[in-house]
Amino acid sequence: MAKITSKQVDSVQKRIRKEMERLDIQPTQSGQTRSRSDLGLMTPDGDPLCPVCGDEVTHTNPGFLFQEVKGGGFIRVPCPHCLAGKREREQHNIRRAALYDDMGLPEQSRLASLDDLDKRFASICAQFVQHGQVESRGRKFCGLFIFGDVGVGKTYAAAAVMNAAFHQGMPGIFTRVVDLLNDMRGAYYNDNIQVADVLDRYMTAPLLVLDDYGTQRDNAWVLEQLYTIIDYRTANWMPTIVTSNYPLDGLRRQADTDIILLRIVSRLAGSLLPAELRGPDRRMQNG
Ligand SMILES: Nc1ncnc2c1ncn2[C@@H]1O[C@H](COP(=O)(O)OP(=O)(O)O)[C@@H](O)[C@H]1O
Ligand SMILES: [Mg+2]
Ligand SMILES: [Zn+2]
Repeated sequence: MAKITSKQVDSVQKRIRKEMERLDIQPTQSGQTRSRSDLGLMTPDGDPLCPVCGDEVTHTNPGFLFQEVKGGGFIRVPCPHCLAGKREREQHNIRRAALYDDMGLPEQSRLASLDDLDKRFASICAQFVQHGQVESRGRKFCGLFIFGDVGVGKTYAAAAVMNAAFHQGMPGIFTRVVDLLNDMRGAYYNDNIQVADVLDRYMTAPLLVLDDYGTQRDNAWVLEQLYTIIDYRTANWMPTIVTSNYPLDGLRRQADTDIILLRIVSRLAGSLLPAELRGPDRRMQNG
C-alpha cells in the first residue's frame, strides 16, 4: 500500500462506510475463508474479500470494493467475481429464454400452471413431469391423451405441464397438429428444407405436445409423417401429450377405414393415458 497518514485513512474509511451504507452493502461476514488478496481490492477494513460474494460467484448485484489509486485516493470498483457471475447468469438467462421461445407455446399459455388444474388431474400431470411417464391402474404410459369439450382447458393443461417440465430442465415442442402438418407439407415442397430434419425435431424433442388432434383430412403422405412421429415417440417411450376434442373411440370411429388414421389412434391408445377434462366452456365464461 502507498503511504498515507492514519488521518487520511480515517477520513477515507469514513467516506467509504458512508458510501457502503448508501449502497446498502453489508460488511464482510466473519468466518468466510480468505483465500487470496484480490488485485489490491479491499473493503474499508482492508479485507480483500468482497462483502457480497466473499469469494463465491453467487449474488445478483455485484459487491463493491475499493482500490487505492496513486495520490492516496480510493476508487470504488465492482467485484470482478460478482460481475463474472452476473454476466454468466445473464448469458444463461438469455439462452434459457431463447430455449423457452423455441418451444412454441402460445403467448397466452406462458403463465399456465399446474396449480390452476383440478387436484386429481394436477397430480397425474405432476407425476408425468417428474418421471416422464405415468402409472395408472398398474399400467404405464409415456404420455397423456387429454380430451374434452371445447374450452374446458385442454390447451391450458398441456401448456401447464410443459411449463412445469421446462422448470425441471425438460424442454419440448408445443405445436398444434395443423401447424405440424403444414410444417411437413412445407418441407415436402421446399427443396431447402429436409423432411428428415423436420421429422427429427418432432421425434426427438424431450417433450412433445400435439394440440388439437382431430380427424385431419389431409393427404396420405402428410398423415404418414404424423404417424411416423407418433410411432417413433411411443415406441421409444418419449414423453408426449396429445389433446383432442374427441375421445379415442370417437377418433377411431371417424377414422373409419383410413388405415393411417387408424394406426395413429392405435398408437395413441396404446401409450397415452386418457384423461378427460370436464367443465364449462371457460372461454364463454371469460368472454
Ligand atoms: N385451469 C385453468 N385456469 C385458468 N384459466 C384456464 C384454465 N384452463 C383454461 N383456462 C383458460 O380458459 C380458456 C380456454 O382454455 P383452453 O385451454 O384454450 O381450452 P381448450 O383447449 O380445451 O379448448 C383459455 O383462455 C385459458 O387460458
Ligand atoms: Mg385448445
Ligand atoms: Zn463479489
